[in-house]
Amino acid sequence: MQTNMATLGKFISFEGIDGAGKSTHIELVRQLCEAAGKQVVQTREPGGTPLGEQLRGILLQQKMAPATEAMLMYAARHEHVVQVIQPALARGDWVISDRYVDSSIAYQGGGRALAQAQLDALGQIAIGDLLPDLTLLFDVPLEVAQERLARSRVFDKFEQEQADFFQAVRGRYLQIAATQPDRVKVVDASQSIEEIAEVVRGIVQTFLQRNAAIAESQA
Ligand code: TMP
Repeated sequence: MQTNMATLGKFISFEGIDGAGKSTHIELVRQLCEAAGKQVVQTREPGGTPLGEQLRGILLQQKMAPATEAMLMYAARHEHVVQVIQPALARGDWVISDRYVDSSIAYQGGGRALAQAQLDALGQIAIGDLLPDLTLLFDVPLEVAQERLARSRVFDKFEQEQADFFQAVRGRYLQIAATQPDRVKVVDASQSIEEIAEVVRGIVQTFLQRNAAIAESQA
């Protein structure tokens, strides 16, 4: 896919294993961006478009071969990029997405053991080189995530997976963070909600300030 379109806005993604508690903090990030004068588009994966939401229903309930799962995740993502993310960034809006391509690398690559080369090939079609400008990775030990998940009554297909699956997903996430430290910021999500919010606030404020400084130097 061609991604040489002008991207005036910024793209922030949220990542983490099920039960890491990432979704609780999306509203805070939205508020911080809006307070800095940004127009925000908040979205999620799988989903974010009518077709993507239909695929989400299938992906979260139905068992399927790992490669089928990966192809449907990337199909939903391509639709999301074309219909929502690229147009928003081209308008100068800021996009906040609850999950993006790192989820596929961690879940389908780490959890389902699909080869990275296959995921890269799907990524080439689905997103080209469109990566987030900032990714917040909510990292927790498995026991903490499982304790948090135990509070939800209905488990989807992924939430029913065993500990070794989540161990592999978490490990792959941490590998991504280690290789792309400028983009991916790891948040210790085993702390209290207030402590996590403080860390998130610090990361986003730094990101906003850096972008404001760059914009000023280009003016
Ligand atoms: P969530 O959005 O409620 O966290 O749930 C989405 C689930 O889908 C979660 O278990 C992670 C999984 N998922 C993948 O396995 N691969 C992907 O590429 C995405 C976006 C999500």
